[in-house]
Amino acid sequence: MKKVRAAVITGKRANMAKRKRPVAAVKEEIISQTYHTFPDAAEVVLLRSQLLSWYDKDKRELPWRTLAITEQDLNIRTYAVWVSEIMLQQTQVATVISYYNKWIKRWPTVQDLAAATLEEVNQMWAGLGYYSRGKRLHEGARKVVSELNGEMPQSVDGLLKQLPGVGRYTAGAIGSIALGQVTGAVDGNVIRVLCRLRAIGAESSSPAVTEALWDIANSVVDPNRPGDFNQAMMELGARICTPKAPLCSQCPVQSHCRSYQKANYAKEQSTKKLLGKTRKGSPPDIEDCVDSEACLLCPSEPWDSELGVMNFPRKPAKKPPRVERTLTGLVLRHRADGQDEYLLTQRPSKGLLAGLWQFPSILEVGISEVEHKRALCTEICRILGTGFSEDPQFVGEVVHIFSHIHQTYVVYSVCLKARGSANHCETVQWLSRSALQEAAVSTGVKKILKLYDSVDKSDHQTTNAAKRKKSVPTKNKNSCAARGDSKQLSLTSFFKNIKEEN
Ligand code: ADE
Repeated sequence: MKKVRAAVITGKRANMAKRKRPVAAVKEEIISQTYHTFPDAAEVVLLRSQLLSWYDKDKRELPWRTLAITEQDLNIRTYAVWVSEIMLQQTQVATVISYYNKWIKRWPTVQDLAAATLEEVNQMWAGLGYYSRGKRLHEGARKVVSELNGEMPQSVDGLLKQLPGVGRYTAGAIGSIALGQVTGAVDGNVIRVLCRLRAIGAESSSPAVTEALWDIANSVVDPNRPGDFNQAMMELGARICTPKAPLCSQCPVQSHCRSYQKANYAKEQSTKKLLGKTRKGSPPDIEDCVDSEACLLCPSEPWDSELGVMNFPRKPAKKPPRVERTLTGLVLRHRADGQDEYLLTQRPSKGLLAGLWQFPSILEVGISEVEHKRALCTEICRILGTGFSEDPQFVGEVVHIFSHIHQTYVVYSVCLKARGSANHCETVQWLSRSALQEAAVSTGVKKILKLYDSVDKSDHQTTNAAKRKKSVPTKNKNSCAARGDSKQLSLTSFFKNIKEEN
């Protein structure tokens, strides 16, 4: 059959990719590629058993896993797993744990969450990044209570259709973990594991690869323990089959891994070559895709022996992040009791960091300090609804990385003497330091505060020129006072800063 197909499909994949073919035809073609699937039922049984044995022995005890096992109430269990899966989208397990525990303690049921305000949710979410996730959870909870009689959807399809922010992966994860539904769940970790297991080297986000991965995931999931199986796959991807330096020698399913076989074979071949032991025309002694020229799952680039199993998966080149510079004003005033208060404004309810509080900010205007100050003062006056005579002082720069923006906050501070200067409305408030610590603010705001604190109080009185010379680098690794340092900083801190997005 493959020979016939190979004859029908002529031309290289580069040409084929341009041709639009019906999804069913593509699917049929993928399924016939046994090299990239698990056609042997006995192998699947063995794979499940090896993976689950490893998971049972080695898995991390995580609060949502405990709840998924111990919580008897199906509605609460589904809610608890939903919260965990949303938090785990784009955020590491280690970061999620404390947020999750606090959240479940405060809002143990979907009804509790529905009764909370969005401001409380944003407050709880502060620092976790990708803030629209919290908002969607809140929206979903309100919908469950108002439209679904307080009952969480009890099927993958229901989860997918009824809950905002729940896509194919999240529905599969909740369905299998909380409801025991037999479905795969393909997240980033699982993509990597499956691409390596089955040597899928075409671009991992292409429709053909996506469909193939879901088909494989649905066919290998253990029907008796679907939730554990899916979590074991995620766990394997997070701890063994890692993006860099995978621990193949500790992998419980190494014997099923086509990439591992390929990597070993390539190593052996190069050793043989070195020793002059290869014979021309000798047949390959590992299985390979019979039709790699036309195959939609095979890599279009040659195997790189330096990379070994890391040849897979292949990701599309990332777009470089947009570079943005923002002028930020830390505006303070002294309260009668001697405490400082900080001026904050609320961001719009849609878009990046929706609804969070921030220091007065505008996109950078000009490059000189004079221009910065003039633009910032205009903005602060607009917010306050009144003028002021104090001169803002340069504090330093803070770099913060969002998934798609390389953001630099150019920070100035100004302490206002007149106490009456406040333009109180819903989107403007003065907060004490302790209130600010608890407020719904992004990590960027926290970093700006940290920078401000790291510069000596006496520094705030020194001249800007002197400060630009002496400030920041040793005091705060996220900040960079001198404009000349910004390039260096952006390179070093690029990798250090956590990612955050709306
Ligand atoms: N990532 C997404 N879901 C997860 C889970 N249930 N356990 C560990 N990591 C995960």
